[in-house]
Amino acid sequence: MRAIVITEPGGPEVLAWREVPDPRPGRGEVVIDVTASAVNRADVLQRQGNYPPPPGASEIPGLECAGVISEIGENVEGFSVGDRVCALLAGGGYAERVAVPWQQVMPAPEGISLAEAAGLPEVACTVWSNVFMAARLRKGETLLVHGGASGIGTLAIQLAKAFGSHVLVTAGTAEKVRRCLDLGADEGVNYREEDFAERFRGRADVILDIIGAKYLEGNLAALTTGGRLVVIGLQGGASATLNLGVLLTKRASIFAAGLRGRPVDEKGAICRGVVDNIWPLVGAGAIRPVVHAEVPMRDAAEGHRLMEQGEHIGKILLIR
Ligand SMILES: NC(=O)c1ccc[n+]([C@@H]2O[C@H](COP(=O)([O-])OP(=O)(O)OC[C@H]3O[C@@H](n4cnc5c(N)ncnc54)[C@H](OP(=O)(O)O)[C@@H]3O)[C@@H](O)[C@H]2O)c1
Repeated sequence: MRAIVITEPGGPEVLAWREVPDPRPGRGEVVIDVTASAVNRADVLQRQGNYPPPPGASEIPGLECAGVISEIGENVEGFSVGDRVCALLAGGGYAERVAVPWQQVMPAPEGISLAEAAGLPEVACTVWSNVFMAARLRKGETLLVHGGASGIGTLAIQLAKAFGSHVLVTAGTAEKVRRCLDLGADEGVNYREEDFAERFRGRADVILDIIGAKYLEGNLAALTTGGRLVVIGLQGGASATLNLGVLLTKRASIFAAGLRGRPVDEKGAICRGVVDNIWPLVGAGAIRPVVHAEVPMRDAAEGHRLMEQGEHIGKILLIR
């Protein structure tokens, strides 16, 4: 098969469309003929040499895909050859075929194309596991989403609104803030012009944070009493001074979690939660995939350039 290979750490130009060995389904795995994959921020870090795949994962980039099952290994439950599916991957999505444990495979949601479905597993699993499973966002509570126009943010806004929450966002341009409001956000701050911590002080029951150190103090100020801060990205650094007194006074908590390195069973539990709770909303049209661009998979370099330019809103799909 052909796949995108990272020829050496570097810029987008190191991504090459090459002939590589076909994947075989191991025990408990299915092989998917990939219709589309999508670009994630983590793929850019992997390409730069800053985010190696976890042990045993494919060196080929790509954390999600959608397509049709073409082979089934031993001990696979609930899937057959010919099923239209999407999957959460530890790697290997930028390829014509990929092998994946069946627990990380989900039926493609109704009402959208297979290509659109390729951009959902990573964001849906990340938002579900962090905002709903870990931080237990409840109806009527307020969620603050940093980077509301990101792939993660565009799904988080829609999902929180569908579950009856109030949604605050930050984004880096007025246009991005406007698009977040169009998606259902109640209030937005252009973080380049205004301090989010001032505007949202004491108002966020849950914060989905992709910035880390640079926003720690502001995030603590924005939390309500009993608030929960979930850190899933470190674009603003990993090390900061934490004032435990603020946590203690507010009876607040901080979680931080990555998705890629979790055991298969944990990923499986997250995927089942996504299928049960998010796919019906997609099928009903209450949640729409937000697609910024569709790029041929062989031109994955172009997809990475788009992501690094930072003007995108939602997902960049890689189409075979
Ligand atoms: N832990 C996990 O399991 C997990 C899983 C998936 C993704 N993530 C993380 O989630 C983040 C989003 O991923 P993605 O794939 O959706 O990437 P993406 O679409 O490229 O999003 C990155 C976003 O960061 C925003 N941003 C940059 N600086 C900001 C700031 N100071 N304040 C607020 N927003 C800022 C950008 O908005 P502007 O352009 O407007 O600045 C952009 O929308 C990444 O950090 C990624 O590593 C974590």
